[in-house]
Amino acid sequence: PQAYNFADYIWPGLLMSPQRILAIRDIEFQPSDIIIASYPKSGTTWVSELVSAIVHNGDTEAIKAKRQHERVPWLELNTDYAWVKLYDFWQSAQKALGYSPTVKEEDEKKSKPVARVWFTHLPLELLPKSALEGGCRIIYVSRNPKDNAVSFFHFHQMARFLGQQTTTWEEFFPLYASGDIYCGSWFEHVLSYWTFSRVNKHVLFLKYEDMKKDLSREVSNICDFIDFDLDNEARKRVIHHCTFDTMKNNRMANREGVWLFNQARSKFMRKGVVGDWKNYFTVGQSEIFDQLYSYKMKGSNLDYEFDPEEPFE
Ligand code: A3P
Repeated sequence: PQAYNFADYIWPGLLMSPQRILAIRDIEFQPSDIIIASYPKSGTTWVSELVSAIVHNGDTEAIKAKRQHERVPWLELNTDYAWVKLYDFWQSAQKALGYSPTVKEEDEKKSKPVARVWFTHLPLELLPKSALEGGCRIIYVSRNPKDNAVSFFHFHQMARFLGQQTTTWEEFFPLYASGDIYCGSWFEHVLSYWTFSRVNKHVLFLKYEDMKKDLSREVSNICDFIDFDLDNEARKRVIHHCTFDTMKNNRMANREGVWLFNQARSKFMRKGVVGDWKNYFTVGQSEIFDQLYSYKMKGSNLDYEFDPEEPFE
């Protein structure tokens, strides 16, 4: 199905219906619920795995028994569709081929969550009212928009539901800069959540670059925010479980086998670095984008790091 326009945004037709987008507005949350929000390709999967591991008290063995999208479902998805059906299909195909089922009953029990967690890419104004009013906690993760653009470009190459697998970087760059894509403008998305987070204590605003620099500090930050205390061993397990290499090789976190993503074209866990934009932006694109960035970010008191601390490969 084609992408469609609704409420001033472009939506992927296969996954989300206008009915669902509207129905989300009325979901009632509990104070212990956690929503991870982001503009796509900002580190959502990373923060989802971190939060999931933390709310399971660092029992990484238990969470390895369950795919991430079951532990941290996508809020705006037409429930009972795509991932779930495809996951069932994948499980039954595995069984038919004689593999043992992935989720054993005892693992299922062990991995029972102590807090419900979702992720969403919804723009702030379309979030459930209950979440906006402080009915649950919101963790927003963001990333410098040059790396974000490159990651989103690769995502368009592999996400079957976005229908833009042949879009080149030259074509993608102006779409990204103008916000004429799924989820709209990076600037509007990020700045609205940023402003909201300044005046709402139930919102934590994170940056990908900070997580790359000091994951341990950001884990503490998240634990404090959601009132979870991890002992040292559990903390170490969480951090190890959520490094790029561990997650890349963990098929319960890397979306392996999900038909929606053609990972033969580009991996979900693609590169995981700061500064990859230098391999894609021309000098001209970089200059134009810098101007756009200073214009849009002016007065926001929000800034990003675009360069890795260490020289990148
Ligand atoms: P790249 O495409 O630059 O590699 P999202 O989860 O929001 O879709 O974001 C995906 C981006 O986060 C990808 O960026 C992916 O590699 C990166 N990522 C995922 N897990 C990560 C981790 N543990 N450490 C660093 N980067 C990670």
